[in-house]
Amino acid sequence: MAEGFLIHIDGDGSCFCRSDESVLAAMMRTGRGAVPVGCRGGGCGVCRVRVVAGRFRLGKISRSHLSAAEQADGVALACRLYPQSDLAITCAEVPPRSANKSEGAISWP
Ligand code: FES
Repeated sequence: MAEGFLIHIDGDGSCFCRSDESVLAAMMRTGRGAVPVGCRGGGCGVCRVRVVAGRFRLGKISRSHLSAAEQADGVALACRLYPQSDLAITCAEVPPRSANKSEGAISWP
C-alpha cells in the first residue's frame, strides 16, 4: 500500500490520501462528495475546508480566494491541501460568492 494518511471528513466518513495527492483528489477517488469541485488548481476557492487537526502543507493558491489570515486560522483549499499526518477536516466553509460566479465548471456532488 502506498504511503499516505487518513482524512477524517466531518459528516462524510474518512478516506485514505496518498502522500503525493491532494485531499480533494483523494476524496474524488474514493467517492466522498462533501466538498464541491471546481478548478482543481487553487484558483476558484470553492473547495474551502477547515483543518481542525493534523499537519499539512498547501500548494500554490490564489490569495484572492484564501487570505493569509484565513490560512492561519486553519482554512485551506482541499485541491491544494497535502497531508503530512492524519487530518480531520470540516466542510462547513462557504466559498465566497464571487468564486462561484467566476467559474463555469463547478460541480457539486
Ligand atoms: S477546486 Fe478551485 S480552488 Fe480548489
